[in-house]
Amino acid sequence: MRRSRIISCGAYLPENVMSNDDLAKIVETSNEWIEQRTGIKSRHIAAKGEATSDMATRAAQRALEKAGLTGLDIDAIILATATPDQTFPATAVTVQDNIGMKDHGFAFDIQAVCSGFIYALATADNFIKSGQIKRALVIGAERFSNIIDWTDRGTCVLFGDGAGAVILEADDTAQGTNKDSGILSTHLHSEGAHRGLLYVDGGPGTTQTTGHVRMNGKEVFRHAVTRMGEVVAEALQANNLQASDIQWLVPHQANKRIIDSMLEKLHLPPERAVITVAQHGNTSAASIPMALAAAVEDGRIRRGDLILMEAMGGGFTWAASLVRW
Ligand code: UT7
Repeated sequence: MRRSRIISCGAYLPENVMSNDDLAKIVETSNEWIEQRTGIKSRHIAAKGEATSDMATRAAQRALEKAGLTGLDIDAIILATATPDQTFPATAVTVQDNIGMKDHGFAFDIQAVCSGFIYALATADNFIKSGQIKRALVIGAERFSNIIDWTDRGTCVLFGDGAGAVILEADDTAQGTNKDSGILSTHLHSEGAHRGLLYVDGGPGTTQTTGHVRMNGKEVFRHAVTRMGEVVAEALQANNLQASDIQWLVPHQANKRIIDSMLEKLHLPPERAVITVAQHGNTSAASIPMALAAAVEDGRIRRGDLILMEAMGGGFTWAASLVRW
């Protein structure tokens, strides 16, 4: 049976760090409020001229180096972002050029905001399972600092910039000791009726301006806890697994309180979650691959571990995936 396996990860955070105290100089807020309500201590902000594709390329190059591969070994790039360099072409084709992926393959963007990485992973997994491609670069990259209203304390304290990437590879030997490894399943959902609760108030098809993030935080929080709980139950059931089988929860990093409530739902202790939100805030589609890269790098995630990823974002979109490392 053919499965897709994650063979390497890479992450990139811009150099410039903005602390909660820095934000308190711009809007009426405090380090205490931000940390207590969200768990965020700082966020990274891209340099002037540093585009989403630049961050995506850095993360991709790190994943390629770790796997000992070059752009020539990649068949497809699927890049999740809500902050593309331009309306078109896709940010993914710029990355394709940057990594020297020449004369073959294809690259495109996916837009599912904070659920984008799992949507991209699911897409790549299905291309691999269908036999159409052997290797995919799956990237989540965001430059939210460009679409934040820096006068709105309800949103500007939450988001940051960054990128994460994984390389997925077809494995036809998923049997014997490997039988259960790779991406076990992906589960995607959306509900357009709630698109007005978290959105950007502009775009090329309407205002012709980029617009800014607008959010009803309380409602998003409420839906996030419910919907992610549902999709996680769906993923476990589809694989005949129990919450207690999970070694690592690698969640979208929006708010530590949302992650804590998921841990509570799953009856998992706090040390089973990979939590990076304190260092970089909500980086939308980039947050899961960055958290994954951190936990693989420091040796927490090991061969055979069962990993649960889950996310929820504007749309609403929400998604989960179970992966045996
Ligand atoms: O990636 C997926 C999308 N995003 C999310 O998942 C985010 C989901 N929502 C949240 O994480 C939380 O709702 C927030 C962190 C955005 C807000 O936390 P909250 O506990 O829901 O606070 P709140 O919006 O109910 O605001 C409580 C109070 C309000 O003051 P009053 O009306 O009680 O006097 C706000 O005006 O806190 C005030 N407030 C702030 N105070 C200091 C709101 N933002 C700030 C701020 N600093 N930055």
